[in-house]
Amino acid sequence: MNLNILVLPGDGIGTEVTREAVRVLRVVAEKWNHQLTLREGLLGGIAIHKTGTPFPAETEKLSLEADAVLMGAVGLPEFDEWPPEKRPERGLLGIRKAMGVYANLRPVKSYKALLESSPLKNHLVDGVDMIIVRELNSGIYYGTPRGIYEDGPEPRACNTMAYTWSEIERVTRVGFELARKRRKKLTSVDKSNVLETSQLWRRVVVEIAKEYPDVQLNHLLVDNAAMQLVLNPKSFDVMVTENMFGDILSDEGAILAGSIGMLPSASLGAKKPSGAWTGLYEPVHGSAPDIAGQNKANPFGAIGSVAALLEYSFGLTEEAAAVNRAMEQVLGSGRVTADLKPAGTPATTEEVGEAVCNAL
Ligand code: IPM
Ligand code: MN
Repeated sequence: MNLNILVLPGDGIGTEVTREAVRVLRVVAEKWNHQLTLREGLLGGIAIHKTGTPFPAETEKLSLEADAVLMGAVGLPEFDEWPPEKRPERGLLGIRKAMGVYANLRPVKSYKALLESSPLKNHLVDGVDMIIVRELNSGIYYGTPRGIYEDGPEPRACNTMAYTWSEIERVTRVGFELARKRRKKLTSVDKSNVLETSQLWRRVVVEIAKEYPDVQLNHLLVDNAAMQLVLNPKSFDVMVTENMFGDILSDEGAILAGSIGMLPSASLGAKKPSGAWTGLYEPVHGSAPDIAGQNKANPFGAIGSVAALLEYSFGLTEEAAAVNRAMEQVLGSGRVTADLKPAGTPATTEEVGEAVCNAL
């Protein structure tokens, strides 16, 4: 198979973890005889430095030409005081929208070898295996009007959370389809006791549920969902929710996996005629400027994102499973990065990447 992939390392630890993820990809391509065509592009802070904008037109063009996009992370502290429309993060919102990747899958799994890495009691975490499906192309991240207004008696700021029926419907379907292939439980998370967008959200989910009688549906208010996630995380199979709730709950989910460095993600858009998904793959963690350049970052989120890329954008389930197995083997060996609090000396980012390649 020809794997035509755009790599966007981005900022901070993004470049370090992406380097290891690409190494793993090369090993997979060699072992299973795939032709790998890699191109590299600019996104985020590095793109601002080199071109003046976080999402250059060239990157947009490359992302639309590629079969799949593998991303690191964006964000640099020197832009902290900049307005949202100029910041590195705006590049990420730009590419998500340009690629039309509206469903962000964030699997949260506990690994036996990492039970001690989670601050939660082992019996709560052991066996957690869920996927958060986060709406990624709408909601408060994109709604207008938005802005800071300085023309009145005092400064005023506003953001808008807006959803259309079809935006809710398409991501809801992704949730139901995933649940159908798993333990057949879907939890829809909203704030329908307060927000109109959530009331529409619930209406759509209830309507679509009629097509999935085999899937058990329940609704949780987002505040309660945040509590249930640490109280009874094993009760979840697939969770579907709007953009900002999903952003927040997935960081909370990271506690279950032991470290946010563990979490991969797949952002999926329209299906291609081949049945493969248009996809943008990135670890859930950010650019972590505090540890950038130190060869300390956990590359598992990025490597797990490679597994997701192979599975969703190319249908290469055997290769994806092999990458996941190799990761588990390395986790079991205890040679992991500092965030996972290993008993001995922590491994470096490169050592973990190398170990996964060897295991493959
Ligand atoms: C994430 C990140 C991004 C988001 C930021 C960097 C814009 O937190 O992918 O979870 O909020 O979507
Ligand atoms: Mn986030």
